[in-house]
Amino acid sequence: MSKVKVPVNQAYRLLNIGCVALLTAAHESQQSVMALAWHMPVSIKPPLVAIAVGLARFTAELIQKSGEFALNIPGYGLLSQTQYCGTVSSRQEDKFAGAKLAYQAGNKVKAPVISQCLAQVECRVVNQILAGDHYIFVGQVEDAAAEEEFFDGMWKITAEEKNLPFQHLGGTSYLLPGRKVTP
Ligand SMILES: Cc1cc2nc3c(=O)[nH]c(=O)nc-3n(C[C@H](O)[C@H](O)[C@H](O)COP(=O)(O)O)c2cc1C
Repeated sequence: MSKVKVPVNQAYRLLNIGCVALLTAAHESQQSVMALAWHMPVSIKPPLVAIAVGLARFTAELIQKSGEFALNIPGYGLLSQTQYCGTVSSRQEDKFAGAKLAYQAGNKVKAPVISQCLAQVECRVVNQILAGDHYIFVGQVEDAAAEEEFFDGMWKITAEEKNLPFQHLGGTSYLLPGRKVTP
């Protein structure tokens, strides 16, 4: 699979669907990946996204140290790997190895971008807000790319199941998108 560029001011369409992301960050020799359901686009110009990351997450520590993160969008074929990345901490295990995730540094950030994911959104932190037991990091989108086969300006939800982004209902329950409809 190879990814094509998505204009940064259209990167919100990768997230619009409310899909689960694999949030990555790196600082010096350390790196982390965790499942993330709480994200949303918050501005088109400049292109900004917000993510809510628990105070105790190792990934939050790396985002604070590096000022960068990447949102990688897994297809349903990566469901068990996503659940694993959302229940084990990088403080205990190398989750990239544990989930057999291939990765490289992003184009514009050092946060890892995951090869098997359908898309990625690379961000530089421009604001951080403490909200109860989570940090809200606001990131400016610096680069974005998606598998051409599955995204043509918006998700082609006709792709086979393993290549569909999916949503989190809670616990170990997830949701696959249904039909695309227009008014
Ligand atoms: C599907 C799913 C979605 C999750 N979404 C979030 C989220 O939006 N924010 C968050 O802080 N934790 C979320 N989690 C929990 C973290 O992924 C989990 O605590 C992870 O082990 C943190 O890893 P780390 O310590 O390596 O950063 C989610 C877990 C799952 C399974």
